[in-house]
Amino acid sequence: MNKTIDEVKLNSLLGQMLSDLGGAASVAMVRMGDSLGLYKVLHEKGAMTCEDLAAAAGVHERYLREWLAHQAASNYVVYDPGNKTFSLPPEQAMLFAVEDSPVTMLGAFDSVLAWTENQPKVQAAFKTGGGVAWGDQAPCLFCAVARFFRPGYLQNLVPTWLPALSNGVLGKLKAGARVADVGCGHGWSTVLMAQAFPNSSFFGFDFHPGSIEQARAHADNHNVTNVQFRVGTAKDYPESNLDLVAFFDCLHDMGDPAGAAAHVKQSLKPDGSWMIVEPMAGDKLEDNMNPLGRIYYAASTLVCVPTSLAQDVGAALGAQAGEAKLREVIMAGGFRNVRRAAETPFNMVLEASV
Ligand SMILES: C[S@@+](CC[C@H](N)C(=O)[O-])C[C@H]1O[C@@H](n2cnc3c(N)ncnc32)[C@H](O)[C@@H]1O
Repeated sequence: MNKTIDEVKLNSLLGQMLSDLGGAASVAMVRMGDSLGLYKVLHEKGAMTCEDLAAAAGVHERYLREWLAHQAASNYVVYDPGNKTFSLPPEQAMLFAVEDSPVTMLGAFDSVLAWTENQPKVQAAFKTGGGVAWGDQAPCLFCAVARFFRPGYLQNLVPTWLPALSNGVLGKLKAGARVADVGCGHGWSTVLMAQAFPNSSFFGFDFHPGSIEQARAHADNHNVTNVQFRVGTAKDYPESNLDLVAFFDCLHDMGDPAGAAAHVKQSLKPDGSWMIVEPMAGDKLEDNMNPLGRIYYAASTLVCVPTSLAQDVGAALGAQAGEAKLREVIMAGGFRNVRRAAETPFNMVLEASV
């Protein structure tokens, strides 16, 4: 094949690769800065020399000097050559130091490491077509996922998403409703709702026993008493007569999402509502050729599709299923009305009723 190389295109691609590899190389660096408390110390104490930061954070100066050089070259911290200090501007602090900031990226960096650790198992599954069970993922995936999604829930769930639901859901929650959070993982969404609506009872279900243990610990740590966490699948959780069922970023992970939809329907009161939070995506591949779609497709290949394929039916909707496909699955379970109640750049919130 004698194809002419377009030098401009090649150079542009090489530029992209340098930037991409720089980001990939930052995963370990950012996680060390987080784990060693370096961002938080810089955030709290302001501009510092390497020596002062080493003393304040209790780390060895020679290692820190190299780490800071990388961070400054990455625009993650700012270096002042005049007085040889490093600082974390407020915008960078929102990404790296403030855990409850709406744009904290620490859970995302943790997630990328967990996805990478899972590569050998998923690579083998490419050959067999089998799945990789959620519980067989890299152990840090579960905490990473919880940390990744938590800021979005903290920012949006109680202030925006629940008030956007119809059928008087907000009034029911204030008065005292029965609510299930299915596929609840570490239960941050459940705990946030339970704290906001003390008259209501919340039931968190997940088929992963380790996650349910963590969810119980979170509820205890936050002294939340109106929530119970139990191991259960989306097709067999025992609670019924529910006013609201919520699925947060998990319907597409399930093997039989239509079967789950049918079970949700029979667990709800006749005027009950199902809230489905899913990753933002367009319906067609070409709609998702953007930075977010790029990250979600990686997560989907390494986590979501193998998780679904490891279960009964193995529908494998993928993390970028899009509203049309989700609507189809929800309606297959017997729901007649589906509408998009809210959205953020990262999530769409669907509401289904019978
Ligand atoms: C991406 S995580 C989301 C967890 C949590 N909702 C959150 O937003 O942090 C997907 C969750 O779905 C759970 N899951 C997957 N398939 C399930 C099923 N069939 N029944 C119950 N839980 C399931 C997994 O164990 C995992 O906790």
